[in-house]
Amino acid sequence: MSTPAVPRQGIAGEAIRIDSHLAGSAERSLADDVLDGLTRPFKELPPKHFYDARGAELFDQICELPEYYPTRCERTILAERAEELAELTGAVELVELGSGTAAKTRVLLDALSAAGTLERYVPVDVTETMVRDCAEALTSEYPGLRVHGVIGDFERHLQHLPQAIGPRIIAFLGGTIGNFPPGSRRRLLRGIARMLGGDDHLLMGTDLVKDPRVLVAAYDDAQGVTAEFNRNVLLVLNRELRADFDPQDFDHVALFDTEHEWIEMRLRARREHTVLVRDLDLAVHFDEGEELRTEISAKFTPARLEGDLAAAGLDLASWLTDPDELFALTLSRRSSL
Ligand code: SAH
Ligand code: AVI
Repeated sequence: MSTPAVPRQGIAGEAIRIDSHLAGSAERSLADDVLDGLTRPFKELPPKHFYDARGAELFDQICELPEYYPTRCERTILAERAEELAELTGAVELVELGSGTAAKTRVLLDALSAAGTLERYVPVDVTETMVRDCAEALTSEYPGLRVHGVIGDFERHLQHLPQAIGPRIIAFLGGTIGNFPPGSRRRLLRGIARMLGGDDHLLMGTDLVKDPRVLVAAYDDAQGVTAEFNRNVLLVLNRELRADFDPQDFDHVALFDTEHEWIEMRLRARREHTVLVRDLDLAVHFDEGEELRTEISAKFTPARLEGDLAAAGLDLASWLTDPDELFALTLSRRSSL
C-alpha cells in the first residue's frame, strides 16, 4: 500500500516531492522478520532494521572510523572519476538506492551539475527521516535541483520509482549489495536491471576480498562504534515490538567466513536467558554463547562480481578502483533491450 504523494516546497523554493510506500508495512516487515528469524535454530535478522535514527547516526560515525576504509575508498574513486562518469552517462537524473545521508552523492551531483545536465535526484531509503532530511539539504545546496524522495524498500518497491525524465544513473553505493545473501542479491540485481532503460547506467559500489585482518578490523573497531551499531538493532526491537532485550547481555562478534568470503556480524549471548517480544507474544530463548546473525557483508572478486552482473542481465561497462584496490565501483548497462 502507498500513501498519496505529498508535493511541497523546499526551504530554497525548489520543488520537493516525497512518496512513502511503507505506511504500516514497515512494522509488519519487522514483525515478520523477527518471527521468522528468531524462531530458527540459527537465529538471524536482516540488516535493514539497523537504520533507525540512532542506527543511521552510528553508521555515519562508522564511515569516519580509521578502520572502516570502504567509505574513504569509494569517495576517492568518485572524486577522481565523477567527471568522466557524468560525461559517459549524460545523466540528467540520479536515482540512489539506500541513499542514507547521501554524503558521497554530492561528488556525483557536483559533476552532473558542472556538466550542466543535472535536473533531478531520487533518493530511495527505508528510513523516512533520511529521505526527508536529505531532500531539504540537497535542494538548498543545489539551486534548481528537484528531489523526488521515495521512502520504501528497494527489494519490494522498485516499480514505484518515478518515470525517467532522461538518461539516469542508478547509484547503489557503499557496498550495500554485499549485505544480501547470494540468492537475494541476484534477485535484487535482476529487479534493478529490469528497471534500466537503454540510456540508463547502474553505478554500484562493492567491497573487495582482501586480508581478513583488515576486514575484521573494519567491523570490530577499537572505539566500539560498530559494536554499538550492532547492538542498536535490539533497541529497535524493544521500541517497535515491545521486546525486553538488554543489549548488555550480548557481545559484538565480527568474523570473516573464508568459504563464502563475507564478513558476519553476530550478537553472542553472555548468559542463558529468555527475551519476551510482547507484540508477537513470543518468548525467545538464548543459551549462553548462542549467536544471532545480524549482517553479512560480502566481499567480491572481479570474477564473482562479473558473474553476478551477467546473471542479472547486466553488461559491465567500466571497472573503477582506488589505488590500493580495496573497493570497486562498476558501471553497467542492461545487456539487451
Ligand atoms: N549509500 C550510503 C548509505 C549506506 S548504509 C553510503 O554509501 O554510505 C545502507 C542504507 O541502505 C541505509 O540508509 C539503509 O536505511 C538503507 N537500506 C537498507 N536496506 C534497505 C532496503 N531494503 N530498502 C531501502 N533502503 C535500505
Ligand atoms: C551498509 N553496508 C554496506 C555496511 C557494510 O559495510 O556492510 C554496513 C556496516 N556494517 C557494519 N559496518 C558497516
